[in-house]
Amino acid sequence: MPTPRPALAPDPPSLRTATRGRILFGGDYSPEQWPEQTWQEDVRLMKGAGVNSATVGVFAWSRIEPTPGAREFDWLDRLMDLLHGNGVSVVLATPTASPPPWMGRLHPETLPRDADGRTVWWGSRQHFSHSSAVYRRYATALTEDLAARYADHPALVMWHINNEYCTYDWGDESARAFRSWLRDRYTTLAALNEAWGTAFWSQHYSDWEEIIPPRRAQYLPNPTQVLDFKRFTSDALLRCYLAERDIVARHTPHLPVTTNFMPFWQGQDGWEWARHEDVVSVDSYPDPKPVEGSHAAGARHHALIADMTRSQAGGPWMLMEQAAGPVNWRGVNHPKPRGLNRLWSLQAVARGADAVCYFQWRQSRQGAEKFHSGMVSHAGEHGRVYQEVRELGAELARLAPEVTGQPVPAEVAVLHDWESWWAGQQDGRPSTEVDYPQVVAAWHRALWDAGLATDFAHPVSGDLAAYRMVVIPQLYLLRDEAIDRLVRYVEGGGTLVCGFHTGVADADDRVREGGMDHRLRELFGIRTVHEWWPLDAGETVDCGTFRGTLWSEELEPAGTAEVAVAYRTGELDGLPAVLRRGRAWYLGTLPEPDGLRGLLSRAAADAGVHPVVAGLPEGVEAVRRGPLLFLLNHTRQAVEFDVPGTHRDLLGGATHTGPVTLARYGVAVLREATT
Ligand code: GAL
Repeated sequence: MPTPRPALAPDPPSLRTATRGRILFGGDYSPEQWPEQTWQEDVRLMKGAGVNSATVGVFAWSRIEPTPGAREFDWLDRLMDLLHGNGVSVVLATPTASPPPWMGRLHPETLPRDADGRTVWWGSRQHFSHSSAVYRRYATALTEDLAARYADHPALVMWHINNEYCTYDWGDESARAFRSWLRDRYTTLAALNEAWGTAFWSQHYSDWEEIIPPRRAQYLPNPTQVLDFKRFTSDALLRCYLAERDIVARHTPHLPVTTNFMPFWQGQDGWEWARHEDVVSVDSYPDPKPVEGSHAAGARHHALIADMTRSQAGGPWMLMEQAAGPVNWRGVNHPKPRGLNRLWSLQAVARGADAVCYFQWRQSRQGAEKFHSGMVSHAGEHGRVYQEVRELGAELARLAPEVTGQPVPAEVAVLHDWESWWAGQQDGRPSTEVDYPQVVAAWHRALWDAGLATDFAHPVSGDLAAYRMVVIPQLYLLRDEAIDRLVRYVEGGGTLVCGFHTGVADADDRVREGGMDHRLRELFGIRTVHEWWPLDAGETVDCGTFRGTLWSEELEPAGTAEVAVAYRTGELDGLPAVLRRGRAWYLGTLPEPDGLRGLLSRAAADAGVHPVVAGLPEGVEAVRRGPLLFLLNHTRQAVEFDVPGTHRDLLGGATHTGPVTLARYGVAVLREATT
């Protein structure tokens, strides 16, 4: 008798489960803000624009549970049916980001407190303490009922838990949870005292109950307490997510679950969170204000967010929110000129997005975001914004079969870690001018300007061997494992380019002996770090081929190191600004953009890494995704340049041999023509 073959395990839920070959296109949809006859118009306009996805319920808690324990699902039943009947899939949100007013009134302990002890009241959103058991009870009860009710609804393709988990709480609920988190981490008070260095300023703890979140204090707080509070907060928010995730996953094990990240946000350890998501999604809002006639600045920001999200996802990712026009939270909120929404949407696709969605579908007429754009603006169906959305929907539908699921190859990785950010970006350090996200953005920009495809990776869990070149913009805190891996990476033939003030602290934010870890000093050929010489705002230091900004270091090289660039002025005149030892480079300053681009291009070329397309005009981006080559013009002028080979443009339909012309904000998606 043949042994029966085991049934094939079903694929784990992923973005592909929801896209089903489409690029998801749609946005947050808040029907609770509109009379039902508007819903009819909504679905007509959605169909007209090729919208195939609506994220529903994000802020609908008080509509579903107007009084404690009530359930009003009828409207949502009708809505889900309506969307399904019109071919629109639903990404159903648990509405737990904005509790109804009754909760704060009946259970004031659910309200978070700021570091000054002030209550964060209802009347806006996100007024919940991540550590409140009462909040958690209401949130999970509602999630349970929502999941049970819609588990089998044919419109449902994905769950969206909460919205942009981003709150801190310094109150008593949080203090209790913080203590219990610390007990798990340290087990004994002695270990905590040691890790926090409480011998300093008489901070020794003799009882767990003495420990509080880092609330307003007379002077600088204990840095390791602050670091641990940030670790704890990310974990506490993650526990909220997991509580709801587990419920929906139990009801619909075949459907993917996500929660949307704020872009490059301090409060959540994105690497850790991404491990618990089936789909990694993000909200990206680059500023559409042009700088010197170009939108390259916005494009770089968008590219950074895309690269980080794709790297967290390990593949295709979801652009959960972007704006079709202006936002309403900058000082001056610029709209998107014609073509820019398309350009940045296709840029996201080029960099791995299989879902292009917006906040929000229809612009609100009331409430705090009535001046925030929507896919249907106040101008309505005939407005330019909706008309452009329509055109984009048709293009995305055309691209979908060619692009979804395709990888974005990269040979360079940028190392980034939240805990280093948390430890490094505190008061009481050498310079408050150093802003970690800006340093990372400067390095990513240099790679973008050099046309080099880039991933992000975690210093401990990232697969460094997959890259020919690894760069570290700045990792002030590096764990021992991370340092060992870096050394092995270079020994194994990898090229490492490392920025200033890296490897200074251990996992407890204790300064390493010598001011920089000895293994790293040896790797880069640094005998001694005598002093850090941070620069004032706007100050630069002459390094011959470029000017350094933000920082400089008094480094004494070891005999084995080559001084690739030296300071040409001031106290450090003649000392190394850039040291090189074989394939390991160390930059003691942050070069101005062209200087950094030049250095990274050189290191990349030595490592055998080349731009996606060489010799592109300034502000033009080239990205490979699977068999496709995306060319994106972020400037306001038409450009022409050569692309070797013969290609068919999937958008324009033309076949190119050699020169390609892109109109302002123009995009070409080329596939090698088979003759
Ligand atoms: C996001 C948020 C949305 C909306 C949007 C406005 O941060 O998730 O609900 O507020 O910003 O840009």
